[in-house]
Amino acid sequence: MLPTSSSPTRFMRPRSRGSAHLVIILVLVIYIVYLHTNGSPYDSLSRSQLVPFSRRSTSAANRHVLQSQQMVLTTDKSGWASTHGKAGASIYQRPLTPVPKGDMRIAIASMNTMESTYDHISLSGKFGYATKHNYGIKMDLAVPKGFRAGAVWHKLNMVEYLVRTGDYDWIWWIDYDTVITNTTVKLEDIIAEALHSEKVKSPQDIHMILTADCWPLNAGSMLLRSTPLMLEFLSDVWKCGDTEDDQNRPNEQSCILDVIEAKPFWKSRAMWIPQTKINAFPSEISCFDKHQKGWTPGDFVVHFPGAWAHLQDIKDPYGVLMRKYNEWVEYVHPGSLFFDMGC
Ligand SMILES: *[C@@H]1O[C@H](CO)[C@@H](O)[C@H](O)[C@H]1NC(C)=O
Repeated sequence: MLPTSSSPTRFMRPRSRGSAHLVIILVLVIYIVYLHTNGSPYDSLSRSQLVPFSRRSTSAANRHVLQSQQMVLTTDKSGWASTHGKAGASIYQRPLTPVPKGDMRIAIASMNTMESTYDHISLSGKFGYATKHNYGIKMDLAVPKGFRAGAVWHKLNMVEYLVRTGDYDWIWWIDYDTVITNTTVKLEDIIAEALHSEKVKSPQDIHMILTADCWPLNAGSMLLRSTPLMLEFLSDVWKCGDTEDDQNRPNEQSCILDVIEAKPFWKSRAMWIPQTKINAFPSEISCFDKHQKGWTPGDFVVHFPGAWAHLQDIKDPYGVLMRKYNEWVEYVHPGSLFFDMGC
């Protein structure tokens, strides 16, 4: 005997529950379709941005939405805003291309690939300094996809890029964990002073102005001449680091030193200046060159390499040091007594 025929009530109940489910599902489907067709353009844009470009929907509706959000980029300066006739006062309205000083067009290059607690300090200092003196600036915030060498090796790519533009005479590589503590100091003065020091016989041959710390080279701050010869030097450095063994690749700093030390040709094109000129370390990181001098007020820039090793008990040692020394930047305390005294 079939159970369904013995009890009509038990037969009816499941059927009515089934149609109730159907109605709920139908309402939901209609609601979802409604949301889809009535979402704001902004919603659609952010939804589509979650998908990689190559896989984005190219339906007519989507294309239309994206087009309406598109910005038109132009280099035509006539339309640029001016701040009450003082466009120069706003650093955001002009491209950071260098204005030549005598025979020097200078670019600043730096890089960071991870979020830190001191991004604004580092970036605002470098962009502000570049703007103040009309230097170009290149700041990379990621390495190319599939880049196998450690991120520090990307600095060679950046220098190569800047050399190839032909837009610069000198490039200042400066690590990200640095504060420019005296923005009055000009790179062209540091370069000129170095090249015209007594020990230099032919200034035009000098391609690298470097500093040591307690190791013979610190590659965190380097002045590099932007000529085709620099590309040859970079190739030699790449060769030094060229290994299939990603784990045991030397870092770019030891390769730069190795290449200079190995070939008299490169050695004659490099010179060392006192660490405090372009690469002062604070007293907290006492790894100094032969002059045994740390950063003091008035120095150009302070650098915190290996802060993690020197300040092991402190949480976020780089951020702590960056914030501490950023207090010395004149725009932080414009009229403070200290700077009025010109100390
Ligand atoms: C900054 O450097 C300039 C040039 O070397 C120097 O004259 C000036 O005194 C320094 N500024 C401070 C506040 O020490």
